[in-house]
Order: sequence, then structure tokens, then C-alpha cells
Amino acid sequence: MPLGRKDSRSAADKKFTRAHLPSPNDNLAELVRMFGELGLDARDMTALSGAHTVGMANCKHYRGRVYGTSDTKYNIDPSFAESRRQMCPLQGPSGDAGKAPFDVTTPMKFDNAYYRDLVAHQGLLNSDQALYGGGGVDNLVEMYSADGDAFGRDFAKAMVKMGNIPPPKGMPTEVRLQCSKAN
Ligand code: HEM
Repeated sequence: MPLGRKDSRSAADKKFTRAHLPSPNDNLAELVRMFGELGLDARDMTALSGAHTVGMANCKHYRGRVYGTSDTKYNIDPSFAESRRQMCPLQGPSGDAGKAPFDVTTPMKFDNAYYRDLVAHQGLLNSDQALYGGGGVDNLVEMYSADGDAFGRDFAKAMVKMGNIPPPKGMPTEVRLQCSKAN
């Protein structure tokens, strides 16, 4: 990562942030549009989504997909859906908290298994499966699923591009001494 990025001193307010963050039920066109607004193209977006090779999501973010109740619908492997429903009740005391790993095969490893999951229709969020749902980036998903080095190269390039997105105009900026907090 290049050093010296000018960061803002504070986060944007909740309303602005919500309006500019993609949602777990977004379809491909919406994801391409939102990333495009920030100068990231469909290839960048497809590579960056590969960050979901690690980490977990709460039930409320994938419930609609695994129960088939969301407006956005992408193919889902039935046995995968069934296993995720076990961790994410439709209703009940455990509520929205049931966490599931994004990547079913190697949840703790940064690799290209996320794309193999998508090819198997085992993407956790609708916005994950959107990348392999007959839209314009199916070929990239197949390529990354077969070629981990190509994914690594594109991911690194897109991360640098994302890091170069400037803070909104008019916000005071500074180079942080520690990247996770304002000076
Ligand atoms: C394509 C649009 C994206 C959408 C709709 C999206 C949505 C989400 C959602 C809903 C969660 C789960 C939050 C929770 O339940 O706690 C999540 C987690 C995560 N996302 Fe994304 N995300 C997107 C892109 C990205 C990108 C570009 C990156 C980084 C390059 C990223 C990295 C992560 C990581 C690492 C986690 C796991 C956090 C944890 O385990 O605590 N995501 N994302």
C-alpha cells in the first residue's frame, strides 16, 4: 500500500454513509453503479469482493437469500441454503445474530475459494452471488476461481485504487500516524 494518504479527520454522518454503502441485497447493476461512482470499474469491484474470502456475516444480512424471501434472487445451492438456515432462524430468540462465514471451504484463509463458492452457487449474500448470476462478470469469477495469482494481482491493484479515493471535498484531511484513527 502506498503511504501518505490524506484521510478525513472524522467519519461521514450515518445518512451519507448508508446512501453510499452497497447493500447485501444489491444486484449486479447496482454494485457496478455504486463502485463506478467512486472510479472503481466492474473488474475492481469483482476483485475487491474477494475480500469476503475471510470474515463472517450476521443472519439479518443473509436471511432473505437463504429463505428465498428477498426481492433480489440469485440461484442458491439447496443444501447450502439448508445448512445456513440452521444458523439463521426465520424468527426466534436468537434473532439476527447467527453468524456464518462468507467462505464455506477455507473461512480463515485469504485465497480464491470465495470465487469457487460463487461458481457452486454458495455465495452467502445476494450481493456475493450477484457476481455469478448470468451478468457481465461471470467470466472474471470463473477466471479468479481457477487462477489464484490473477486474483491476487487484481485484488492488490484494486485495493490501491480504492485507497486513492479522496475524502469528500471540503473535509479537513491529514496523513494519519496510525491508520485506524485520526491523529
Ligand atoms: C460489493 C459490495 C459489498 C457488500 C454489499 C458488502 C457487505 C458486507 C456485509 C453485509 C458484511 C457482514 C456484516 C455483518 O453482518 O457483520 C460484510 C463483511 C465484510 N466485508 Fe463486505 N461488502 C462489500 C464489499 C466489501 C469490500 C470491497 C471489502 C474489502 C475490500 C469487504 C470486506 C469485508 C470483510 C473483511 C467483512 C467481514 C467482517 C467481519 O468478519 O467482522 N467487503 N460485508
